[in-house]
Amino acid sequence: VKKSLIGGAESAGWRAAMAAALYGPGGFFTGSASVPRDHFRTSVHASPLFAEAVTRLLLRVDEALGRPRRLDFVDVGAGRGELAAAVLAALPPHVRGRARVTAVELAARPPDLPDGVDWTPTPPTGTVGLLFANEWLDNVPLDIAAVDDTGAARYVLVDAAGTERLGPPVEGPDAAWLARWWPLAGAPPGTRAEIGRTRDEAWAAAVARVDAGLAVAVDYGHLIGSRPPIGTLTGYRAGRQVPPVPDGSCDLTAHVAFDALAAAPVMPTVDRASPVPSKLFEQREALRALGIDGGRPPRTLASQDPGAYLRALARAGEAAELTDPAGLGGLTWIWHTVRCDF
Ligand SMILES: C[S@@+](CC[C@H](N)C(=O)[O-])C[C@H]1O[C@@H](n2cnc3c(N)ncnc32)[C@H](O)[C@@H]1O
Repeated sequence: VKKSLIGGAESAGWRAAMAAALYGPGGFFTGSASVPRDHFRTSVHASPLFAEAVTRLLLRVDEALGRPRRLDFVDVGAGRGELAAAVLAALPPHVRGRARVTAVELAARPPDLPDGVDWTPTPPTGTVGLLFANEWLDNVPLDIAAVDDTGAARYVLVDAAGTERLGPPVEGPDAAWLARWWPLAGAPPGTRAEIGRTRDEAWAAAVARVDAGLAVAVDYGHLIGSRPPIGTLTGYRAGRQVPPVPDGSCDLTAHVAFDALAAAPVMPTVDRASPVPSKLFEQREALRALGIDGGRPPRTLASQDPGAYLRALARAGEAAELTDPAGLGGLTWIWHTVRCDF
């Protein structure tokens, strides 16, 4: 059954193979059996402090927008809707009454999701508030190029068993993207590059749905000058890193070229003349600015109020995981303000 996802023994480019394996019939994310949190751990699963920080960000956006009549929180690539549900639950009552919380997800709506969370496969238009995408873009399918023996960049083709071979030369907009963002000229045979053009386009289209407010994507990434020479494509299954085989049995993920994403033109629906500025932060910086840090509680609290001390200690441990530079704290946040002083 799995082999039919990309047509038996036939090869396809990685973009088509990833699309079929993750989102086709019986795909890893769209098939009925798979629950993302069983396979990998995102900040959302690591600690409720993450949702707390995102809620705080939404409330700051609300203030910056002058408390609009409707405040949107749009979670793109929502998984099982855990973040959307947690943000909804954490909103103070006076804001909850104005809030529209939407989970954008290709998988089916989980039966236990609260009624207050809308579920849709495409981002709503006219968003006023915060659009947030945690670890979505690394799952947006992309093609991969490799340098052949003559020094030319060719598409890497793959079959359902994960066996790769070189295909046609990379041309057109993909070649232009490589030349600008992941140049392969002069690189030794076998050097690979992940062509992030599809991520740039997907993200720009999502940001363009925001009429006013903030759009944030969070992911593992790299910048020009420090691209990994063999790329980052990998698989995950049941919490373990596995070879990337596009047969629907594992997650397939590749890090994001954040500088390309930041430079991609966004065409907002409202006020097309105004550019949409972008900034890049490390997660630990962003979370610290939102009041999450790994500082331990004072020792004196242990004798004064042991229960509060233990709770504060647990919170500090979770904050330390979310801000650890070698782990989740090393994630990159890209941040676009749309017609909003923030
Ligand atoms: C790595 S999971 C992240 C889940 C959640 N945001 C979290 O942080 O735990 C990526 C999710 O993005 C979803 N996804 C991928 N492409 C999508 C698209 N174009 N529209 C909506 N959801 C998408 C996948 O189905 C998957 O559930």
